[in-house]
Amino acid sequence: MGKKILTEHIHTPNIETFEVYRKHGGYAAVEKALKTMTPDEVTEEVKKSGLRGRGGAGFPAGMKWSFIDKKTTPRYLVCNADESEPGTFKDRYLMSKNPHSLVEGMIVASYALGANTSYIYVRGEMLYVIQILEKAIAEAYAKGFLGKNILGTDYSLDLYVHPGGGAYICGEETALLESLEGKRGNPRNKPPFPAVKGLYQQPTVVNNVETIAATPWIINNGGDAYAAIGVGKSTGTKLISACGHLKKPGVYEIELGVPVEEFIYSDEYCGGIRAGHTLKAVVAGGSSVPILPTALILKTAKGEPRLMTYESLSDGGFITGTMLGSGGFIAMDETVSVVKNLWNFSRFYHHESCGQCSPCREGTGWLERILHRMVKGEGKLHDIDLLVDVAKKIEGNTICPLGEAAAWPVASAIRHFRHEFEWYVNNKDKVKRGEIYQEQLVNA
Ligand SMILES: Cc1cc2nc3c(=O)[nH]c(=O)nc-3n(C[C@H](O)[C@H](O)[C@H](O)COP(=O)(O)O)c2cc1C
Ligand code: SF4
Repeated sequence: MGKKILTEHIHTPNIETFEVYRKHGGYAAVEKALKTMTPDEVTEEVKKSGLRGRGGAGFPAGMKWSFIDKKTTPRYLVCNADESEPGTFKDRYLMSKNPHSLVEGMIVASYALGANTSYIYVRGEMLYVIQILEKAIAEAYAKGFLGKNILGTDYSLDLYVHPGGGAYICGEETALLESLEGKRGNPRNKPPFPAVKGLYQQPTVVNNVETIAATPWIINNGGDAYAAIGVGKSTGTKLISACGHLKKPGVYEIELGVPVEEFIYSDEYCGGIRAGHTLKAVVAGGSSVPILPTALILKTAKGEPRLMTYESLSDGGFITGTMLGSGGFIAMDETVSVVKNLWNFSRFYHHESCGQCSPCREGTGWLERILHRMVKGEGKLHDIDLLVDVAKKIEGNTICPLGEAAAWPVASAIRHFRHEFEWYVNNKDKVKRGEIYQEQLVNA
């Protein structure tokens, strides 16, 4: 069994209450940080741990904290709990089962940043999570872990839960800040980055739920102990939300470095592909990352076993690699049409584009329309190259990465499954009758 940090107590009855959480060592990191460490020492420990942001980009958390302009007040910590990326459902699991782990992390991280007001921005549809968090926060206030002069120290913190604006784009950190300020969730041009001008134009750190919830363990056990788990620059553990045609879909906490093959097929994790079917493709890190066929998700192009790490999953770049992203692991068996799946993703991105930049606003519409005509049996052969062309014109030409998130899945699907796109064009009658492409696969 791999090391459990975030989910160690997740099945303990009533762990969502302050009393039980405290009984299992909860809030010890707040006591240690506030009473025995300076804010810079807390940041240093997180730096040492090598903890990387778990929201998708994998930026080192301690380094992000150290960029914050400490001469300017007030400063803010904002937790990104918007979690709208298709295939990703780990944050809501953690927050609903063990809300105090996030509240404790918020106190530790806010102390390190010198923030006296912090926010948890939760996807608006997840009302039940908002209610669970509000209850945990009220308990923490009542026990003296939030509010004025926490544990008798001169540090004070107010923590608020804010319901999200109901759009995927509100998960992009600067759109989130706009939304938190009460405006439409449009991403901002960068620079300035939030560490310099964030919420209300003040220095702000935005971190994912899982990133923040990992910090109490790091403070209790030391950054070196965290860095000793995992492989290379992929330290610690990661929550993976696994879905699709797996025997045991669910949220798993893995030590970074588990081979992908073990994650898919071993009984400790997903238990393999549903009976009678064969794995065809995997989207390893949420809908925005490149899709890979079975051979390339299990082994790199060099023939080495692919590991669940930032580096190994991206080995081969966008030609033969993908990304760990937010850890939304979608496994597809041979019954899935990659073309139809891509059309579905494209509809999503077109719908969610905020419309500020033409390449994304118009390009996502083009992608959706071209794919739609293909799955209706009205595609033309040159549509395949047209899709690649449109995707290329979006990439690198937009204010925020939603454009790339829409483009990368297109480019990778065509690179690895071109034959399937051609089948849709060359078999219009079958497509119109509702048949889908059937990949002939041998058991992996
Ligand atoms: C369209 C879009 C949606 C995003 N949604 C989320 C989200 O729901 N949760 C999240 O933590 N990060 C999301 N991100 C990434 C954030 O912009 C940001 O990188 C992250 O919150 C930083 O936290 P971390 O460093 O702890 O990963 C999204 C990015 C984009 C472009
Ligand atoms: S890339 Fe798309 S979502 Fe991002 S700012 Fe531009 S139009 Fe909006």
